[in-house]
Amino acid sequence: TRCGSLSIVVLGASGDLAKKKTFPALFNLYRQGFLPPSEVHIFGYARSKITDDELKERIRGVLIQAKDTMPEHSESVSKFLQLIKYVSGSYDTEEGFHLLDNEISKHECGSSRRLFYLALPPSVYPSVCKMIKRCCTSKSDSGGWSRIVVEKPFGKDTESAEQLSAQIGELFDESQIYRIDHYLGKELVQNLLVLRFANRFFMPLWNRDNIDNVQIVFREDFGTEGRGGYFDEYGIIRDIIQNHLLQVLCLIAMEKPISLKPENIRDEKVKVLQSVLPIKDEEVVLGQYDGYTSDPTVPDNSNTPTFATVILRIHNERWEGVPFVLKAGKALNSRKAEIRVQFKDVPGDIFKCKKQGRNEFVIRLQPSEAMYMKLTVKQPGLEMDTVQSELDLSYKHRYQGVTIPEAYERLILDTIRGDQQHFVRRDELKAAWEIFSPLLHIIDDGQLKPIPYKPGSRGPAQADELLTKATDDNCKRP
Ligand code: BG6
Repeated sequence: TRCGSLSIVVLGASGDLAKKKTFPALFNLYRQGFLPPSEVHIFGYARSKITDDELKERIRGVLIQAKDTMPEHSESVSKFLQLIKYVSGSYDTEEGFHLLDNEISKHECGSSRRLFYLALPPSVYPSVCKMIKRCCTSKSDSGGWSRIVVEKPFGKDTESAEQLSAQIGELFDESQIYRIDHYLGKELVQNLLVLRFANRFFMPLWNRDNIDNVQIVFREDFGTEGRGGYFDEYGIIRDIIQNHLLQVLCLIAMEKPISLKPENIRDEKVKVLQSVLPIKDEEVVLGQYDGYTSDPTVPDNSNTPTFATVILRIHNERWEGVPFVLKAGKALNSRKAEIRVQFKDVPGDIFKCKKQGRNEFVIRLQPSEAMYMKLTVKQPGLEMDTVQSELDLSYKHRYQGVTIPEAYERLILDTIRGDQQHFVRRDELKAAWEIFSPLLHIIDDGQLKPIPYKPGSRGPAQADELLTKATDDNCKRP
């Protein structure tokens, strides 16, 4: 009989990431019919000596929230949990991985398709990849495949990232490695390509002649509660800016790819990254919120920024002179991620538009996905007054009843389909680290210190001053 099976292996199955993101995403895919039970088996692997049932109960707890009172929901959770098998073992010895391989093989028929999702700290990536390669990939046949999905942080700077890439690269081909940046799975991030290259409106305006500055902003209204230990080792630049915000920058700034093939898109992203000029110290403001070090897992004298504004400048024909302001912070006044493209003032203005504010195109990634254009219109009425108004595309209103998929759901589906478009390629990762490594080294050495700010505020006032200066400076240029 014709058959084929897909084995999804979640390594680090008892950990936080698996519980909060991976299993819920798998469940959503299952519920929508993307993981047919006749073909799919899910394996959890971790060191914890727990039973199958214990793991399932944990996952059930996350999948069934108090608001889910529908009996059908709990029934589908139960059916989903039946797909899961748990195998316990260590991350650096063959024994556990042989057990895992046996378990997978038992359920496999036809071509062997195996997806290994590493919901693990990067320190164990090399040994886990080695074990997977050695013990769990021998059955690969012509129709089958093995793929590795890894999460950030991929290293701490260019050197460590390259080392990690080289170690994994010795074992698996780049086409088998899926580096997740979950921002690439967000609806409005994926929309950027379409927006830019399918609309005549934007193409002629999208350059230094018309755009004054681009701001890519991430705010959270909570601190590092519960993950201070992890965070303190990385800081906001490694946690958010070097990956999530920089990926968004690439999509805003890149040239049109020759096609939608993943390699064509990633080639263009790499070119943007390689065109970014070295960051100037005076174009950086760091902050740390008051109370950050009271977390027992954070050292009292920590120099780690929980806030940063960094200006990047792209040295190419399209963007020379346009500041890209990347700003991210924890414990700020709101939770929001958005892109603001600010246009230059109208030349020879006869309406005093400047007083009202300039044209701006805002793409809100979250919450409440939306795009809106701020523009000047005549104030309705008898006078010839002007006012700033908005052309507003709010997803909630425009796409009522459409559920926007979670980033992880979409990205896992891509890994199953073998589509690397929304994943970070090795050279892209390296180029991204090269932008930030010199700055990070200065911060790590204590030569650049974060400015304290109040939780619930906008962050240090110096960041707003930097922004005003950068964008005003730019205006003065001919
Ligand atoms: C993660 C960071 O990558 O992204 C977290 O490690 C951050 O610190 C999270 O909270 C934000 O993701 P989202 O999708 O909630 O914006």
